[in-house]
Amino acid sequence: MSNSKDTPPPTVQRRQPHVTRCVAIVVLVLILLTLFVIAVIWLAVQPKKLIFSIEHSSITGNNATAGNSTFHCLLRSRNPNKRVSFQFKRIEVEATYRGTKLFNGSVAPFRQPVRNVTEVEVDLPEVRAALQAKEADQFKAERAAGVAKMEVKATGKMNMKIGVFKVHRTVTAACGPYDVPFKESEGFRWVDCHTDISY
Ligand SMILES: *[C@@H]1O[C@H](CO)[C@@H](O)[C@H](O)[C@H]1NC(C)=O
Ligand SMILES: *[C@@H]1O[C@H](CO)[C@@H](O)[C@H](O)[C@H]1NC(C)=O
Ligand SMILES: *[C@@H]1O[C@H](CO)[C@@H](O)[C@H](O)[C@H]1NC(C)=O
Ligand SMILES: *[C@@H]1O[C@H](CO)[C@@H](O)[C@H](O)[C@H]1NC(C)=O
Repeated sequence: MSNSKDTPPPTVQRRQPHVTRCVAIVVLVLILLTLFVIAVIWLAVQPKKLIFSIEHSSITGNNATAGNSTFHCLLRSRNPNKRVSFQFKRIEVEATYRGTKLFNGSVAPFRQPVRNVTEVEVDLPEVRAALQAKEADQFKAERAAGVAKMEVKATGKMNMKIGVFKVHRTVTAACGPYDVPFKESEGFRWVDCHTDISY
């Protein structure tokens, strides 16, 4: 009786640390295995950059710089990847003149499948009274000549999807400076953007 009572406790005490160590090892191995699989998939897929560009752009609308005009452009996104797709959330777009933001707005969310080209029509309203007097004079002179040297910048949060894996990234694109005409009919110019994807 006393024997059978005495024997169980030591075995229980001996087993418990063994079990927790086993569980810890299994969990560790699973984590390492998962990381390894992710790394292998990542290396096998090697996501390529997105390529943003701008097809025609123009500035239309009222007369003045601090007035009522609109910057139109066609933003083109090319996804050269075979296995990577993108889910864009809001993309903020702005058009600057000599470093001053003159127009801004955003593009509605869209999904870009693999090996796809998507073109988005962008209309940016004018930012009120943004130019200093000197810049405003220069802008007016360029408008009188028919074109203004503008730069377009786009920044968008997105999800990058590789199979079942999804990672958050930010895409930034800088386009120009390039000549933007004040007539819609003359607005056909192709501009490649410097496109980057960052964390
Ligand atoms: C622009 O507006 C000014 C007054 O604000 C006017 O004198 C001028 O004629 C206008 N120019 C054009 C091209 O509409
Ligand atoms: C701006 O344009 C809109 C429509 O094109 C017009 O209704 C409005 O009066 C204009 N505002 C100014 C300040 O010119
Ligand atoms: C445009 O710029 C203004 C002023 O910087 C900012 O308040 C606004 O949120 C911007 N709009 C968009 C759509 O990014
Ligand atoms: C790109 O994807 C969009 C959205 O799924 C689709 O509407 C469009 O037709 C695709 N374009 C090409 C060239 O495959």
